[in-house]
Amino acid sequence: MIIPLCPVCGAPLTTEKPAWKCRNNHSFDVARQGYVNLLPVTQKHSLHPGDTAAMVAARRDFLNAGYYEPVAEKLRELVASYAPHAESILDAGCGEGYYLSQLEAKERWGVDISKDAVRFAAAREKSARFLVATAAHLPFSDAAFDCVLSMFALTAAAEFARVLKDGGIFIQVLAGEKHLSALKSVIYPMLLEKEKNLHPQLDSFTLLHKETLSFAFTLETREMVQNLLCMTPHVWRISKNGAEALARISRLSDRTEVVFNVYGRQKR
Ligand SMILES: C[S@@+](CC[C@H](N)C(=O)[O-])C[C@H]1O[C@@H](n2cnc3c(N)ncnc32)[C@H](O)[C@@H]1O
Ligand SMILES: [Zn+2]
Repeated sequence: MIIPLCPVCGAPLTTEKPAWKCRNNHSFDVARQGYVNLLPVTQKHSLHPGDTAAMVAARRDFLNAGYYEPVAEKLRELVASYAPHAESILDAGCGEGYYLSQLEAKERWGVDISKDAVRFAAAREKSARFLVATAAHLPFSDAAFDCVLSMFALTAAAEFARVLKDGGIFIQVLAGEKHLSALKSVIYPMLLEKEKNLHPQLDSFTLLHKETLSFAFTLETREMVQNLLCMTPHVWRISKNGAEALARISRLSDRTEVVFNVYGRQKR
């Protein structure tokens, strides 16, 4: 069984209601929705870190409409082939839990630095456990998990290697260069394709498999087009002109380019 650790002193936490406690009397309330906030102020670099409530709601509505179902399906397939006996899965930067809720394992843990995301996730999936925490300091002991996921979220490779068992699997999902190019062509007048390292070499890991998933989809309402924007990092850097151009659009056909990298944790 996975026992979370106190983010202040590193001691194991008892996971009972109404609050999780360590032997040094640090205490963390279990929220009404069932999640626990383990993000100490020292690891919080802003008042509301991570995705905002509006972004989280937009992503939930977009994902619940099923547009990214092929991504979830590919993830299920890769977990089934590379970690078929995984008893424990950690989704780092889990957002509102869309992907984790579709996987099966004895223990499923999701962490996200956004409290709003975790609140939605805990409400969506009662049988997984969700924590507000940073992927940069995971509140788990070494070699705790069989499988770690990062779906369109950050890769804290050293920390993921630490919490994975030897032979454990890390599935990294990234946006490729041509991901959502129709959306990008509306919001950026000049499309600069930045070169990205889509299959990074990660210390302590061996790249076992890489695959790109591309499929088309069409959004039929202005609201759904805005939801898509809010799911992407473009929402942080869109210009006023770009936002105005997109606000005029009520139908958008686009394509994904989603890169799946499956890494194996090397022996310690
Ligand atoms: C693009 S979203 C992806 C969410 C989800 N994995 C999905 O694909 O639906 C990236 C997520 O990473 C979270 N995040 C950002 N920095 C983080 C950190 N240091 N630790 C954990 N989560 C973080 C954000 O709050 C956000 O929910
Ligand atoms: Zn403590």
